[in-house]
Amino acid sequence: MPGFELFGDLERKEVNDVLDNGVLMRYGFDAMRNGHWKAKELEAELCKTFSTDYVQLVSSGTAAVSVALASAGVGAGDEVIMPTFTFVASFEAIMMLGAIPVLVDIDDTLTLDPKEVEKAITPKTKAVMVVQMCGSMGHMDTLRAICNKHNLIFVEDACQAIGGSYKGKPLGSIADVGCFSFDFVKTITCGEGGAVVTNKKEYYTNADHYSDHGHDHIGNDRGAETHPFLGYNFRISELNAAVGLAQVRRLPEFIEIQKRNYSIIREVLSKIPEVTFRSVPEGGKESYAFLNFFLPDLEFARKASQAFKENGIDACFHYYDNNWHYIRKWDHLKELKSLYPISNEVKEGLQYLKTRTFKQSDTYIARNISSLIKLSWTKEDVNARAQKMAEIIKSI
Ligand SMILES: Cc1ncc(COP(=O)(O)O)c(C=O)c1O
Repeated sequence: MPGFELFGDLERKEVNDVLDNGVLMRYGFDAMRNGHWKAKELEAELCKTFSTDYVQLVSSGTAAVSVALASAGVGAGDEVIMPTFTFVASFEAIMMLGAIPVLVDIDDTLTLDPKEVEKAITPKTKAVMVVQMCGSMGHMDTLRAICNKHNLIFVEDACQAIGGSYKGKPLGSIADVGCFSFDFVKTITCGEGGAVVTNKKEYYTNADHYSDHGHDHIGNDRGAETHPFLGYNFRISELNAAVGLAQVRRLPEFIEIQKRNYSIIREVLSKIPEVTFRSVPEGGKESYAFLNFFLPDLEFARKASQAFKENGIDACFHYYDNNWHYIRKWDHLKELKSLYPISNEVKEGLQYLKTRTFKQSDTYIARNISSLIKLSWTKEDVNARAQKMAEIIKSI
């Protein structure tokens, strides 16, 4: 992470193709485009990357989560189970549909604890959304079995996990529907962009229409297209798709670099008795976008985090004290601060957030440090960083 570190001629060429013919929109204008359909090409490329039947590009990862849920029929008053640890966007995307995010504790995978998922199921539950945080994954088989048993839609927010896999399947392609972000800080970036990934034709068709005002995209006269149902505009532009097209072709190269850098740091830290690592379910391979490790307690982690900052070890996140990735600091959501009125159903559904504590999640997030793995580091940079991190941890 992130792809922008290695921008180059490939990205420039793809963007110039779009600028040269002047069609910045992904639909229509067939005669003017000189055969350039960057969004369509990127979708085809991503189908290969994810070994999946369908990919619908959208304008962001947040849009991808909303569009995915809408495409699967999640809406007003439905409960969606999600973990306490994620980027705040997972929560927002559920709210956007008038549905109710039901937060449950994580375990040492840093995502959904299946026992807590089972406990949270009610007659209103419609979907379970695992968030493949920081390049790794949840207990996919167990979560799938829970969803099957209770007839729930299984959703993967894999916005942070491109390039990871579980039992040989790319993360994001395992659940009923998966979501990716290609924002500026992701392993593959479009500047802004996202994707909905599925093998279900119905979900794909819904996502295709819903993300473009309900257009059915039949024929080549946009004005004559019919609208089978309500939709909005979550379209990606050709410029953004062009950047992503160049980047996705470099994914194997990026993952190799991430793996090398991750492995060097992990090897050094693993010699320190106070350090343990997040658990990765058997059969899982991380994307190596982050190295997540646990320190003995909150105080230790706070001291390490502070010392990393003071000593130039950047991009090491202690999410316990971070405003955007962990429920503890989401006061605006706990207090339901909104510019516009929120339905009574959602207000009632979110009452639990005012009083509920997440002690189990706290024990993991309080001790966790997530070190971003950059692509631009040389081997020497990473070695020096790893040694410095080890020195700091040992000095606490
Ligand atoms: C887990 C997760 N979900 C959703 C998103 C939203 O993606 P975007 O920034 O493209 O809207 C992000 C972005 O960081 C994320 O990390």
